[in-house]
Amino acid sequence: MVHLNWNDLPFGYVKTDFNVRCYFRDGKWSKPEISDSEYINIHMAATGLHYGQESFEGLKACRGKDGKVRLFRWDENAKRMTSSAHGIVMEPVPHDLFREAVFTAIRLNENYVPPYGSGASLYIRPLLYGSGPEVGVKPSKEYTFVVFVTPVGPYFKGGVKPVNMMICRDVDRAAPLGTGNIKVGGNYAASLRAIIKARDNGYSNVLFLDAKEKKYIDECGPANFFGIKGQTYITPLSESILPSIINKSLMAIADTIGIKTERRRIPVEELSEFDEVGACGTAAVISPVAKITDPDTDKTYIYCKDGNPGPVSLKLYNKLVGIQCGDEPDEFGWITILG
Ligand code: PLP
Ligand code: COI
Repeated sequence: MVHLNWNDLPFGYVKTDFNVRCYFRDGKWSKPEISDSEYINIHMAATGLHYGQESFEGLKACRGKDGKVRLFRWDENAKRMTSSAHGIVMEPVPHDLFREAVFTAIRLNENYVPPYGSGASLYIRPLLYGSGPEVGVKPSKEYTFVVFVTPVGPYFKGGVKPVNMMICRDVDRAAPLGTGNIKVGGNYAASLRAIIKARDNGYSNVLFLDAKEKKYIDECGPANFFGIKGQTYITPLSESILPSIINKSLMAIADTIGIKTERRRIPVEELSEFDEVGACGTAAVISPVAKITDPDTDKTYIYCKDGNPGPVSLKLYNKLVGIQCGDEPDEFGWITILG
């Protein structure tokens, strides 16, 4: 294993040894090619650069107590990348190619999978973009699919330590019939002004409301939202949020430990009724929310004062991370062991 400060890794880029590339040209995908370069050669008129034909994914692999590398639900990311490709008219990556490229990238960089118990994991970033030249607005005829990996610590500082969020009404990350439900770069570019504003005001991230009416909760920056009321897990139903694989997994776990689940619209005022609130996603895992501030109404919603996560969030977090690292049985069949 390489020497890194595993217990103190940020969620950032660390160079690893190899990445994998596949090309769609003349109507077919190439076999995965292995590269040790961090750079890609790209046509200056590529549609990925000009017209946002680009989508990405994020998955995690963890090292268990037994030293084996466990990959979480890669097939869900493959399916979502297909849906993103359809959403912006790109050539989808066949699922067996996605699997081969992801597995190869992990195996070739096994030295970078953080040790068991460090709290860090290997983040896998598949990227698909239009690489053929066009000047008119039309889909590319050529596509490039790249998979790189990088070891990461928690996305929100402190891991499972509660963070503060700010509601933002003057920026929308996606329109109701736009691209919010797929994972394309444009959504993240559109969210940057709101994220910077929240950070400048001392908050970890932004809570977006629905773009049409600004009445309902959408999602928390790069993560889904959930609220806990008693023993019920409630998460937004919205056409403009990313269908989170972690959120779906938490709902499945909740069902097995006696916590009811609801997916429905959540009016902003309901924030005052939750016992616990959290952001969830691959990068965030579960990041409990201590406080939400609504600068437009001057309201502040407080969920924890002692700096600790609430009991239901903690139970879900422990079970999820336990499955991901192999400490809990893989009762849902979510894990692929890579060695
Ligand atoms: N919402 C957004 C906007 C995201 O970027 C992510 C991260 O992928 C999520 C939600 C969580 O999705 P997942 O649990 O599949 O990582
Ligand atoms: C993830 O959770 O995998 C994400 O993609 C979030 C990312 C935008 C940092």
